[in-house]
Amino acid sequence: MRKTFVIMVAILIIGLNTFCRKKDKEEQNSGNQQPTVVSSSSATSHYSGKNCMSCHNGTNAFAFSIAGTLYDSMKTNVYVGGIVEIYTGSNGQGTLIISLVSDKNGNFYTTEQVDLSSGVYPSVKNTIGMMAHMPQPTTSGACNSCHTQGGTAPPIWVP
Ligand code: HEC
Ligand code: HEC
Repeated sequence: MRKTFVIMVAILIIGLNTFCRKKDKEEQNSGNQQPTVVSSSSATSHYSGKNCMSCHNGTNAFAFSIAGTLYDSMKTNVYVGGIVEIYTGSNGQGTLIISLVSDKNGNFYTTEQVDLSSGVYPSVKNTIGMMAHMPQPTTSGACNSCHTQGGTAPPIWVP
């Protein structure tokens, strides 16, 4: 009787151990998964308003080519479902390079390779299509590195 009990406990421990290892592995995989498709209903992002690339640089966390946060016109609440468009020309002119939507935390992001080296012009659109344009080009996709409370530019706001 006692022996059976010991064996049962042993089996239980081995079983639990395998289960936990499997779970760790799954969590690791899901963390390393590089989300390229974002929807306005996804909520897996975090650190709204912070410079995403301070961590998402390929060393501390997988790299984003473009990431940041959208706010409403008061610049206090995040803006869900806004569209960020990156153009080769100013004021929404030229070629549309990529279009990103802000998620439930106001964040937009992509891991897609995008060449920003010759300077691109970001624009934002609200949910009914009104636009605001960045007046000068940027070569950096780390939008919140400038656009943050107390930064060199105010938080990106949607009209
Ligand atoms: C302080 C560091 C840090 C900052 C700042 C940060 N992140 Fe992360 N983020 C992480 C780490 C670490 C992970 C896990 C990544 C991994 O396993 O490689 C992660 C994962 C993610 C994921 C994947 C979540 C999932 O479950 O699939 C998304 C999306 C994400 N971050 C978006 C953002 C956005 C957008 C910003 C900026 C607004 C941001 N992060 C800022 C550290 C950070
Ligand atoms: C090197 C700093 C810098 C970077 C990086 C940067 N911006 Fe800007 N941005 C500015 C400045 C400065 C302005 C003008 C601010 C003002 O009008 O007060 C501006 C204005 C804007 C505007 C118009 C005002 C508004 O908020 O609606 C938008 C939209 C915008 N930026 C989007 C972006 C996006 C998206 C990115 C990332 C792809 C980005 N910016 C990266 C500095 C930057």
